[in-house]
Amino acid sequence: MHIHLLPLWFFIIQIIPVLGFTDYLLKTCAQSGFCNRHRFYEANIKESKNRYYSVDKSSIEYYKEENTHKYVFKASIIKTIPRPDVNDIKVELPFTLSFFEDLTSLRFTIDEIRTNRLTELLPDFLNTYRYNETWKWAFDSEFNLYNSELTYKESNWLSNDIITIFNEDESLKVELYTNSFLLKVYYDNKLSIVINEEQLLNIEHLRSKEENFQQLLPEESSFNMFGDNFEYSKADSLRFGPESVGLDFSFIGYKNVFGIPEHADSLRLKDTSKTEPYRLFNVDVFEYNVDSKMPTYGTIPLMIAANPTSSIGVFWVNAADTWVDINYKEDKISSHWISENGIVDVVLLFSKSVAGITEQFTTLTGKPQLPLLSAIGYHQCRWNYNDEADVLNVDSEMDKAHIPYDFIWLDIEYADSRQYFTWKPNSFATPKKMLKKLENLGRQLVVLLDPHLKVDYFASDKCIENGVAINDKNNKPYIGHCWPGKAIWIDALNPLGKKIWDGLVTVFVDKVKNLHMWNDMNEPSIFDGPETTAPKDLIHFGGWEHRSVHNIYGLSVHESTYESLKSLKSDRDQRPFLLTRAYYAGSQRSAAVWTGDNVANWDYLRISIPMVLTNNIVGFPFIGADVAGFSGNPEPELLVRWYQAGIWYPFFRAHAHIDSKRREPYLFDEPIKSIVRDLIVLRYALLPTLYTSFYNSYISGSPIMKPMFYEKPEFEEFYDVDDQFYIGDSGLLTKPVVAPEQTTVDMKFAPGIYYDYFTLDHFVIKGNSVIEKTIETPLEKSAVFIEGGHILTRKDRYRRSSQLTKYDAYTLLISPNLNGFANGILYVDDGISFEYQNGQYVVSNFTFQDNKITNKVIHSPDELAYDGNMSISKIIIPIGSGKVKYSNVATVKMNSNKIVVNVSISDDKKSIIINNPSLSIDTDWELIL
Ligand code: NOJ
Repeated sequence: MHIHLLPLWFFIIQIIPVLGFTDYLLKTCAQSGFCNRHRFYEANIKESKNRYYSVDKSSIEYYKEENTHKYVFKASIIKTIPRPDVNDIKVELPFTLSFFEDLTSLRFTIDEIRTNRLTELLPDFLNTYRYNETWKWAFDSEFNLYNSELTYKESNWLSNDIITIFNEDESLKVELYTNSFLLKVYYDNKLSIVINEEQLLNIEHLRSKEENFQQLLPEESSFNMFGDNFEYSKADSLRFGPESVGLDFSFIGYKNVFGIPEHADSLRLKDTSKTEPYRLFNVDVFEYNVDSKMPTYGTIPLMIAANPTSSIGVFWVNAADTWVDINYKEDKISSHWISENGIVDVVLLFSKSVAGITEQFTTLTGKPQLPLLSAIGYHQCRWNYNDEADVLNVDSEMDKAHIPYDFIWLDIEYADSRQYFTWKPNSFATPKKMLKKLENLGRQLVVLLDPHLKVDYFASDKCIENGVAINDKNNKPYIGHCWPGKAIWIDALNPLGKKIWDGLVTVFVDKVKNLHMWNDMNEPSIFDGPETTAPKDLIHFGGWEHRSVHNIYGLSVHESTYESLKSLKSDRDQRPFLLTRAYYAGSQRSAAVWTGDNVANWDYLRISIPMVLTNNIVGFPFIGADVAGFSGNPEPELLVRWYQAGIWYPFFRAHAHIDSKRREPYLFDEPIKSIVRDLIVLRYALLPTLYTSFYNSYISGSPIMKPMFYEKPEFEEFYDVDDQFYIGDSGLLTKPVVAPEQTTVDMKFAPGIYYDYFTLDHFVIKGNSVIEKTIETPLEKSAVFIEGGHILTRKDRYRRSSQLTKYDAYTLLISPNLNGFANGILYVDDGISFEYQNGQYVVSNFTFQDNKITNKVIHSPDELAYDGNMSISKIIIPIGSGKVKYSNVATVKMNSNKIVVNVSISDDKKSIIINNPSLSIDTDWELIL
C-alpha cells in the first residue's frame, strides 16, 4: 500500500486556524501545463497568422440517423502539421453539428481519431478514447436530444469555401468556413457569434514523447507536456501526454458576459487579458480569496452574453480542469476556453432575452427541483452540535426565543470516528429517539455524508470488495487522507457503486422521516492530494482517468444520494433534501448548494451576493452562503447585516466553524437578538412568496435572487450592478448593507413607484432613466422595497416552523403601480410530497385593476388532497400613490353571490385594510372597492 507523506500544508489546513486562503496550493495558469501552452499559442498564432485546421470537404455527410432519428451534419477537421522535406502529419478530428428540437440552439462536437499504434502502448485498464460522456451527467435524461431537421447548402464565396446550414425554422443559420475551420452563427438574421475567429482552435493530438519534437507547431510550447513540475502534482503520470483542447468564441456586438460559476467575484465577468483566466476546477478552498478568479467548489460552464434585446449562451460541456479568458473589445467580447482533455462539446443557445437562455439551459440540463417547503425556511447548523442533549437544547432555546427554524444540522462529529453511516456511541446513543422528538416538533435533521470512507470499516470494506472505490493509477483502490485519516472514495460514476451507496444510505436512514443529507468534500477534497483534490491519473469506472471526469464527480455523488433518498418513497413519501458542496451543470435537479468556507468578515458578506446571483442566472437558484461567515467570530454589527442579506438567499443557513464561538441567534445580546429574530420571522412570513418563486423556477429555471439587468434588461445602467437584486417575480427589491458603519445605501431605481416594505411609504422615479437614491439604513433596518405593480402573499402569524403555518390564512399585500395596476401569482401544494407532479397543487393569479381585485385560479385539481388553510384573512393596499379609490365598504362577487365587506384605514393612514374578507385562494372571485 502506498504510504503518503503529509506535506506541511496538510498540518496548516488541519490544525492551525489561519485566516485567508493558502494560494500556493493551487496552480496559476502559468504553472498549469496546458493553460500555459494555450496562452502561449494564442500569443503566437495571432502574430503568425498560420492556419493548421481545415475541413475536408470530401468527408461531409448529412443524414438522419436511423435508430435515433437525429439529423446530423458530420465532417472531418484535419489538423495539418507541416514537415520540411517529408509528408505533412495529418490528424483527423471528427466534427458533428446538430440542432435541438424545440430550442433555439445548436450543438457541435470535435473529437480525435487516435491511432492504435499509440493507444496499444497504454495499460489495458485505461480507456483510450477522449472522454465524451459529460453530457450524460449534465443533460436532463428526459430531454429529447437534437431532433430538428437540418438543411444545408454549399457555396463558393470569394476565396472561401462555405457550407451554410439552417435549422428547421431558419431562425438559426450557421456558416462553416472550410478553409480554416470557422463557424459564424446568425440568429434572427444577425451575426451573433463567431467560433474560432481568433484561430485559437488547438487540439493537442496524441503523440509519443519521442516523436513530440516533430509534431509541435512552431507556435506551440512543450511546457509540461509529459510531466508536471508543479510542487504538489509532480507524481502525475500524464500517460496520454498533452491532450488539451482550446477554442475561442466571439460575441458580436455584445458588451456584457456573465456566468461560469463558481468564483468569488463580480457578477459581470471581468476582462482577463492582464490577469489570471477564470478557472473551472472543483476544489476545496478553505477561506477562498474574494475578488478572485481562482476556482472554488463548483462548475457550471455556461457563459451568457446579454444585451437589452438579445442573449447568447455558450455551454462548454467538458468536465476536465478548464480555464476561460475573456477579452472585452470595442464591438465584441472574445472568450477563450481551454480544457485539459476530453472532446470539444459545445451547446450554443440563442434568445431575445437572458431569461430565454436560462429557460433553454434548464430545459436541457433539467429544471431546478421544487424543494420541501421546510427547506426554504431557516437552517441552524454548526460544526458541531455535540450530542443529543445539545441538539434538543438548541431546538428548545430557539422556541423560547420565538425564533422560527425548520432544520438543525449535524456536522462530521456525529459519526463514530468520522465513519459515515454510524453514530458516535456515547454522544448519539439514541438517534432515533432524538429524531422522533424533533419530528414531533415539526423539525428536520441533516447529517453530513462525505464520499470518503475511512479504511477498515464495513462501508469502505464493502466498496473495496465490490470494486467500486476509485482506483489509483495502477488500478488498485486509491487511499488518501481526509477527515477520518486514511480513506477510500466511492466511485459514484460506477452503476454498481451507486447501488452499494444506495444500500448504505437505505440502511442508515432506516425509514426515518425527518433525516436528510449533506454531501460535503465531494470535489473531492483530499488533504494530501495535489491541489487538495484527487490525483488526475486515478481511474474511474469505464477506465476513465479522473482528469476527464473531475468536475462531474461531485454531481455523481449527490445525485446518487438523492436517488437513494427518493427511492425510500414507500417509507417516506417526501422530496429529499440534500446539500452538496461540489456541483456541475445539472446539479440543480437534485441538490441545494452553498458557497463553502467563507469568513466572518465584510468582504465575504459583500461577495456572497454576486456569487449567489451568478448561480441563479445559470439555472441553480437553490444556493446560499454561510450566515454569518463560517470561520471567525462576527461582531454584532456584521451579524445583523449578514442576516439582513441572508434572509434573501434562496438557501438560508447559519453555519460556524468548530473553532468559532457559539452563535445561535438566541445567544445574541439585545437589541441584536430581537433584530435577528424579526428578520427570520420576516423570512417565514414571506415563505408563500418565496415558495412561489421556487415553483416558477421549477417551471422555467428562473432566478430567485435576480440581478437588476435580468429584471430590467432595457437599462444599460444595470448590467454591472451586483449589490442589489429582486426576489423572483415578486417585485421585492433590496440592497443589503455590506460594509461597516453604513447607515445609508445608494440604490438604483428604474422609473416607477416604490414602496418601503416596512412602512409602505412610497416614492416615484419619474422619466425614462435609472436614478440613484440614498436610502437610510440604520442598523435595525435594511433597504427593502416593493416595486409598484406587484401583489405579495404572506402568512403573518409567528410559528415555530414552516410546517406549523399550514392552517394559517394568507395576507395579500397589493402595491399598485402608477396606473393603479398590480398582479401576482401564488403557488400552493402540500410542501412535502411529489403529488404536485400529479396535479395536486393550486396556482392563483391575483390582479388589481380599476379598483377591483380579481382572483383567477389557474390550476386546481378536481379534488385537492392537501387540507391546509386556503383563506385570505387580510388584504393591505397602500394608498399613497393616489391611484386607489375606496370607500368604507367593498363588494365581493363569488359564485354568483354578492357580499359586502368593511374597508378600514390603517392607523398610520398609509394603507387600506380589508380584514377577513371571506375569500379563499382556490376559488375565483372579485372584490370591488
Ligand atoms: C468543510 C465544509 O465546507 C464545512 O462547512 C464543514 O463544517 C467542514 N467541512 C466539516 O465537515
